[in-house]
Amino acid sequence: MSAQNSKVWIAELSHTFKKQPHPTLVNINLSVNQGEKIALIGRSGCGKSTLLQMIAGLLIPSDGAVRISGHTVTKPSAKWNMMFQKPSLYPWMTVRENAALGLVFAGTYKKNPEYVEKLLDMVGLTEHKDKNVQQLSGGQQQRVALARSLATDPDILLLDEPFSALDAFTRTSLQNEVAEICDRSNITLIIVTHDIEEAIAMSDRVIIMSHNPGEIVGELHVPLAFPRNRGAEEFSALRDQLFKQFEQIDQLKKQSA
Ligand SMILES: Nc1ncnc2c1ncn2[C@@H]1O[C@H](COP(=O)(O)OP(=O)(O)O)[C@@H](O)[C@H]1O
Ligand SMILES: [Mg+2]
Repeated sequence: MSAQNSKVWIAELSHTFKKQPHPTLVNINLSVNQGEKIALIGRSGCGKSTLLQMIAGLLIPSDGAVRISGHTVTKPSAKWNMMFQKPSLYPWMTVRENAALGLVFAGTYKKNPEYVEKLLDMVGLTEHKDKNVQQLSGGQQQRVALARSLATDPDILLLDEPFSALDAFTRTSLQNEVAEICDRSNITLIIVTHDIEEAIAMSDRVIIMSHNPGEIVGELHVPLAFPRNRGAEEFSALRDQLFKQFEQIDQLKKQSA
């Protein structure tokens, strides 16, 4: 596939951090279509966050490039939104004020303040809009961050292990909601995770990374419609398959070590 018809195109990307003897990422090639949902999965330290930051324009690779809609990424843009593991909200502001922040910065909040209300309803925060964010639980705070990320109508949503600090129930429901929102709105999603079930629950395609050095070693297509039924046989079959692929990678690593 060429850069012209893919949404995100990563070509021959490698990266070595300053003063590091070995590269963190080597020879990364990846093409993502508009509206496609990708999970980047791999062990801790394999370079997932580094790669996501490069897609976001927060880090520039030492070799190769990331292109979005045909343009080489050199800095962050309002068209794509990154959401981190911690929600990074402003503690002195209310839920509504935090959610509206991107729109306020863009100068477009006053044109359509109802939109933020709608998003807060959608993420289940209807009763909490006027509360200070510090009064909310971790899961609720992550929902505020999510509403804020969606408010600016991003083309691309980049998520770095956003649910890992949440309890299992909250995590599951947020995984479902985010995947369904992206599916409905044709948002291109790239989520970094080390959680096999999260990858199968949220993506159309899982990209498997290996460590030392960080590279792409496999992929798995997830041809299931949304909303996804985790109890379905197809779901558990794919989860088992991904788990097996991981074990094989580890075995290969041991043999070559
Ligand atoms: N700013 C940095 N300077 C030097 N090394 C870094 C820096 N950021 C990350 N690394 C190293 O790069 C590797 C990959 O890190 P990271 O992308 O955070 O992995 P992951 O998100 O998969 O856990 C790790 O070995 C980490 O120590
Ligand atoms: Mg990380």
